[in-house]
Amino acid sequence: MPRSDTTTPRPAWSFREYEPVGVDLGSPAAVSAYDRNQGTDPDADDALLDRLGVTAGTRLVDLACGTGSLVVQAARRGVEAHGVDVSEEMLAFAEATAERADVSAHWHRAGFLDYDHRGRLADVVTTRSALHQLPDFWKQQALLNAAAMLRPSGTFYLWDVIFSFEPAESAEHLHRWIATAARPEGQGFTRADFEAHVREEFSTYAWILEGMLDQAGFDILSRAFPAPTHGEFVCRRR
Ligand SMILES: C[S@@+](CC[C@H](N)C(=O)[O-])C[C@H]1O[C@@H](n2cnc3c(N)ncnc32)[C@H](O)[C@@H]1O
Repeated sequence: MPRSDTTTPRPAWSFREYEPVGVDLGSPAAVSAYDRNQGTDPDADDALLDRLGVTAGTRLVDLACGTGSLVVQAARRGVEAHGVDVSEEMLAFAEATAERADVSAHWHRAGFLDYDHRGRLADVVTTRSALHQLPDFWKQQALLNAAAMLRPSGTFYLWDVIFSFEPAESAEHLHRWIATAARPEGQGFTRADFEAHVREEFSTYAWILEGMLDQAGFDILSRAFPAPTHGEFVCRRR
């Protein structure tokens, strides 16, 4: 499906969301290794779509869709699925995956901040493992944009590296996470990748995100923190 320009111009003081921070995810080698490193699992995508009540006819937007797995699984079930990402390389990979699966989805080269959703409001907006790419002020702007593209009572889903540990215990939790998650080169994200994540990306605390979600116009329906470094929020737009 041809791409249309779905971005709004941003002021000069806006965060440069097309300039990658932290771990390299945009090079051809990083894109082709991403699904293995991340453990992308279409069955897990399907389980999430089921939980969010995504069925044929739902209009879904996945912000920072990466290699597009969730969008492709949604399109397989007859969803009007939109994948949004700033990375041309990621989108090309996602489009090729959709083509191989023989499904049609809408792909937008756009960011959390400048994606301008057109037409009917979305029923479901998702974003996984990506909001941490923005500093906190800009996360709030991104959440406002996500709320603006959702119909009232629509669902917003956020999964990310989110810290639910006590701030005074951050060092031990971060040490433990990196030690447990890091893999040898060529077998997954490495210690250097996780170190760069903590040092150069903008993961933040659950209690900060809760305030931001509220400010953006979301009611939190559920929250889960399966690890002190990771979590999700399921929200409803007021
Ligand atoms: C770790 S990947 C997550 C991809 C996918 N959501 C997943 O769960 O596998 C982060 C993605 O965010 C994208 N990204 C980074 N900053 C962004 C922004 N401001 N707006 C949209 N996408 C962004 C990157 O290009 C990359 O594809």
